[in-house]
Amino acid sequence: MPLTAIVLAAGEGTRMKSRHPKVAHKLLDRPLVWWPVHAARKAGADRIIVVVGSHADEVRAIFDGDTDVEFVEQTERLGTGHAVRVVRDAIGSFEGPTVVLYGDGPLIKPETISALVDETKSNHNAMTLLTMVPPNPFGYGRIVRDADGAPLAIVEQKDCTPEQQKITECNPGIYCFCGSRLTSNIDRIGNDNVQHEYYLTDMLGIYRELGEPVGSIPTEYEETLGVNSRSQLAEVTRIMQRRINEELMASGVTMLSPDLVWVGPEVVVEPDTELLPMTMLWGKSVIGSDCVIGPNTRLTNVLVGNGSSVEETVGYDTIIDEDVTVGPRAYLRPGTHLCDRAHVGTHVEIKNSTIGKGSKVPHISYIGDTQMGGGVNIGAGSITCNYDGVNKHRTTIGNDVFVGSDTMMVAPVAIGDGALIGASSCITRDVPADALSLERSDQRIVPGYAKLRRDRLQKEQ
Ligand code: UD1
Ligand code: CA
Repeated sequence: MPLTAIVLAAGEGTRMKSRHPKVAHKLLDRPLVWWPVHAARKAGADRIIVVVGSHADEVRAIFDGDTDVEFVEQTERLGTGHAVRVVRDAIGSFEGPTVVLYGDGPLIKPETISALVDETKSNHNAMTLLTMVPPNPFGYGRIVRDADGAPLAIVEQKDCTPEQQKITECNPGIYCFCGSRLTSNIDRIGNDNVQHEYYLTDMLGIYRELGEPVGSIPTEYEETLGVNSRSQLAEVTRIMQRRINEELMASGVTMLSPDLVWVGPEVVVEPDTELLPMTMLWGKSVIGSDCVIGPNTRLTNVLVGNGSSVEETVGYDTIIDEDVTVGPRAYLRPGTHLCDRAHVGTHVEIKNSTIGKGSKVPHISYIGDTQMGGGVNIGAGSITCNYDGVNKHRTTIGNDVFVGSDTMMVAPVAIGDGALIGASSCITRDVPADALSLERSDQRIVPGYAKLRRDRLQKEQ
């Protein structure tokens, strides 16, 4: 059975005080609107229609490459009912159950969407609404029920009688409709109300008059929180952070201080791994088991194999194999691959390079565009000079090479297996396997000179 989701995201979001549309602001590392879209996806939606208005292009760009997401532009914002009508006009009829979500409501759970859909299907409802009881109902549409307790109407704050204002059960604005009945009845909504808007909420009263079955299911207020300001964004972030971290801890991940760990929604962390304070794991990072990550570490799209530790490190688009040690204070840039048991130490930057099995780059190095074999030791302060000011060039280092400290490897250059490079060499030519290569001037000794100089300078004072 197909499931359609409509995500309303045409709003301006003026209270964010931003040049960007509200729904593009990030919650953890995903834009706000990504969350309800993803929740709909997890609930089984195969067609997701995002209603865009202001900054439409920026909102569209968020879903670049997502084939299940379509966009409908609402040029005039005439109300939530109008938004759904615009969608209907653009796509034709709604097929199967059709849920309506808000682009600025990121906390809605897939389970709740599924429950709404199940309730709609099993009772053949024309409409099922979600309801909640907020701490302060002011501003929300109130749920008016009939003598049997069935939902009769949703009345907007501005249209409420003093009696209706006392109702505490409210409308979070999330519904599941029967697609075909929504298609044929959405035009019945008028705008004869205080705000002269087309209210989607009017569908409830319309269905009641038509004698169509409607229903409701309750949910927690917290799940329906919307974001209208940066302060609310921070609050929603805390809630989502807690939700994700609780799930991780329940699955066997240790956190010294869960309030100081941020994990994106598409990150995987295996059991028996420890996440230390000020760790952020973003993108599609996957962390194996028995790892220690942090403190002060941000990894984006980084795969970390079992038993590895990554301390005080920033990394992007990197693969770390098993039992690797990284940091403290390393910078791993895209295309880095650290093979089993490799070590990348302090103030080391690696870019687009493979560091072979058990190889070590322990101190203050830059390794770029390099293919390095196993068992290599790179001395402190050694770097690859991969850029000539115009082009990038590759360095190849074989197995079991020993590179002395403060060596410059000027690419393109190749160093053969088992070669030895003397400290402080500038290597511009290929080094054959098992050779020693040395590039430095002879050391001079001038006996007594230091004392003579010191005495002279002191006399001149
Ligand atoms: C709506 C509900 C109200 C509910 C509240 C919960 C209606 C008439 N009222 O009121 O019962 O308690 O949500 O938050 O539905 N949007 C569009 N296009 C439009 C109008 C709105 O995309 O033409 C989007 C907005 O970007 C926003 C959402 O829909 O994210 C809600 O719209 P808004 O007009 O602010 O509704 P509320 O007054 O909050
Ligand atoms: Ca030198």
